[in-house]
Amino acid sequence: MSREEFPTDRPAVVTCGLPYANGDLHIGHLRGYIGADAFNRALNAIGQQSAYVCGSDMHGTPVAVNAEREGVDPETFALGWHEQYEETFPQFNVDFDNYGHTHDETNTAITQEIVRTLDEAGYVYEKGIQVAYDPDADQYLPDRYVEGTCPYCGEAARGDECDEGCQRHLEPGEVEEPTSTITGNPAEYRERRHKFFEVSAFEEYLTEFLDGLEGTSNARNQPRQWIEDGLQDWCITRDMDWGIDYPGEGGEDLVLYVWVDAPIEYISSTKQYTERVGADEYDWEEVWRKGDDASGSEIVHFIGRDIIQHHTIFWPAMLEGAGYNAPRAVAATGFITINGKGLSTSRNRAIWAKEYLEEGFHPDLLRYYLTTTGGLQQDVDFSWDAFQEKVNGELVGTVGNFWYRSLLFAYRNYEGTPEAEVSEEVQSRIDGAIEEVHEAINDYSLRGIGQAATRLAQFGNEYIQRNEPWKLVDEESEARRASEEPSGDEPRGPDKAAQVIRDCVQIAKAVAVLLEPIAPEKTQKLWDQLGEAGAIEDASLEDALEAPPRTFEEPGELFEKLEDDRVAQLNEKLEQRVAAAAADDAGEGEETETDDTDDEESGDMAEIDDLEPLAEDRISFDDFQELDIRVGRIETAEGIDGADDLARLEVDVGFETRQVVAGIKQLHDLEELPGEKCILLANMEPAELFGVESNGMILAAGEEADLLTTHGDAGVGEKVR
Ligand code: MF3
Ligand code: ZN
Repeated sequence: MSREEFPTDRPAVVTCGLPYANGDLHIGHLRGYIGADAFNRALNAIGQQSAYVCGSDMHGTPVAVNAEREGVDPETFALGWHEQYEETFPQFNVDFDNYGHTHDETNTAITQEIVRTLDEAGYVYEKGIQVAYDPDADQYLPDRYVEGTCPYCGEAARGDECDEGCQRHLEPGEVEEPTSTITGNPAEYRERRHKFFEVSAFEEYLTEFLDGLEGTSNARNQPRQWIEDGLQDWCITRDMDWGIDYPGEGGEDLVLYVWVDAPIEYISSTKQYTERVGADEYDWEEVWRKGDDASGSEIVHFIGRDIIQHHTIFWPAMLEGAGYNAPRAVAATGFITINGKGLSTSRNRAIWAKEYLEEGFHPDLLRYYLTTTGGLQQDVDFSWDAFQEKVNGELVGTVGNFWYRSLLFAYRNYEGTPEAEVSEEVQSRIDGAIEEVHEAINDYSLRGIGQAATRLAQFGNEYIQRNEPWKLVDEESEARRASEEPSGDEPRGPDKAAQVIRDCVQIAKAVAVLLEPIAPEKTQKLWDQLGEAGAIEDASLEDALEAPPRTFEEPGELFEKLEDDRVAQLNEKLEQRVAAAAADDAGEGEETETDDTDDEESGDMAEIDDLEPLAEDRISFDDFQELDIRVGRIETAEGIDGADDLARLEVDVGFETRQVVAGIKQLHDLEELPGEKCILLANMEPAELFGVESNGMILAAGEEADLLTTHGDAGVGEKVR
C-alpha cells in the first residue's frame, strides 16, 4: 500500500454504517459511532481536514417489519427513531458534521441519479427470478419477511443475510426451506421480473481495489475469498411500497433494495454538510466525484464486520460504475459480547444507551472502554467488572491521578504554571507520544490513539515519583544553602522543583490534547482548569508542546472511582433483566426479534446437543505419554493456493521451526496469527496436503477452530503434560 499518510491536503470524510431506524440504540451500536467519531477527531487533531457524516437507514424490511408489528406506517415509525438518534448521539459526544436520513430529498435524488447512470452505462439488466410469496397474506416476501436455511453454511438465515452463520448476503430465492415471517407458513416461490446490477463485470476492478484498500485486514481477506468463489450479480429491486422508487423503465411497481440507497446516504450527507457550510469550507464533490487526480480519495468507512460484503463488493462496484471515488479504507469492527455471551436485544442482554446514561455514568468512560479494549477487529466483551477495572485503573488511577496531583501541586506552590523551561527529556517524550498518535491513525488503531495518551500519563506519574518535587520545595533552607555554593549545573531545591512541576503541567496538558478524540468532554474540563481559552477540540496535537497559561484556579478531580457495591448492583440488575426476558420468552413460546444485531455466537457453553459424546474407551497414561505435545509460536501464516480451507504455518517449537498445514484459512485472520502461541502435536506423522508437507498438528477446539494456547508464561518448546 503506497498511499500518502494522513494528514494529506485533500478533504477526508469519515462515515459509520447507518443505524436502521427501528429500535433503541445499545452498546453494540455505540462502539461503531464512538469509534468513528474518535477517529475523525484524531484526524482533525493532526491537521487533516475531515467531516464525519452519517444518517438513519429508513428503508427496507428491517424497518417495515418492525413498523408493522407496532401497527404504524413505516415512515412515521422510522422518523420517530431518527429523531431519537439525533438526540442520543450528542449525549455520547458523537459529533456528526451532518446527520441526515435516507428518505430525504437529497438521498432520493442522488440514489436515483446513480441508478440511472449505472443503467445508461449498461450495468443494469432485467431478469425473471423466483421470489418468495405468502399466499395467505397475499404478499411477496422480500428479505426479512422470509426465513429459512443458508444454502452456503446450513445455518438459520434471513431472506437476504446469513446473520447467524457465514454472514453472506443472500439473493432473493436463495434461502432454502423458506417460511413467511408474517404467517409462519411455508412460502411459495413465484416468478417475478427484477432489476440486476452487473457486479460480475467488476471482478478485475474489485481485485485491484482490495489490494489498495486500507483499514482492517478482514475487510480485504473476506471479499477476496468471495471473489475467488465467483461474483454474482446483485438484485437491486424489491416488491415493496416502502423505499425509493426504481427510477428507470420497467420497474414502476418496484422499489430499490435498501442496500442501494443506504450507503449512498454517505454521499448525500456529505453534500448536505457542504450545503450548510459552503463549498469553500468543505467541498463534497472534491471528496466523492472522480477527478483527474489519480491519487484517490480520503473516504474512510467504519462498519460492523457483518456488512463487509456490502462495503467492499457492492458499494465500490456501484461507485466505480457511476463515476464516484472508491473508499480509501474500510475498518470493520468486531461485535460486542456481554459477560462473554452474544449481545441479544430480544433477550435483553444488552447495555442500552439510555440506560447507561440514566445510571449517571459519564459518556467519556464508555468511550474510553469501547475504544481501548481490544483491537478494532476483535469482538469486545463488556462487563461491569471489566468496566470498573478500566475506569478505576486507567482513568482514575493513571490519567486522573496524574492530572490532579500535578495541577494541585502547581496551583499550591506556584498558583499555576511555574516559570521554567520544559526539560528536554519531557519535550522528547511528548514528541514521541505525538508520533505514536500519527502512527495509530495511519494504522486505523483507536486503541493506539488511547494508549498513547494513557502511557504518557503513566510516564508523568513515574516522573513525579522519581523527582519527588514535594521534597524539593520542603527543603527550601537546604536549597538556599546549595544555591549559595553552586555545585554543578543541575538546579536543585526550589529551582529544581519549579522545573519538575513545569514539566508535569506540560505533560498534563499534552495528555489532554492526546486524549481529546476519546474523551472530549473530560479533556475540555482539564483544558478549562488549565486556564486555556476556547475548545480543546480545536487544538492540534502540536499544541501539546505549547506553554499553558501562567496562572490557573484550584483543580478538581475529574474521574470518580467506581465502587464494588455499585458494580454488584449493576450486575444484579443486568442478570434480573436477562432472566425476566427469558421468562417472558418461555411464556410466549416464541421469540420476537426487535432488532438486527442478535448474535448468539461466542457463548461460554456449547449447546449440549451439538457436542460429540464423551469417549467410552479409556487410554493408559503410557499411551498419553507417547503424544509429544509442545508449546509453539506461530511465525508465519498464509493461505495455500487452491485449497479453500488450508493454511500453511511455520511454527517455532524451540529446537526447530516446523511447517504445518492447518484447516483454519476461513476461520482465522491469518495476518493476525504471527506471534501467537499455539499448542502443537509434534510427533504426528508427516503428511502432504495440496503439495505442502505438514510436519505436526496444531490443536484447536470446536467448529470454529478456536486455537489452543497457554495462559501463563510457558515458553516455546515446553512440553504439555
Ligand atoms: N443499516 C445497516 C445495518 O445496520 C447498515 C447500513 S450501512 C450503509 O446493517 F452502508 F448502508 F449505509
Ligand atoms: Zn451462511
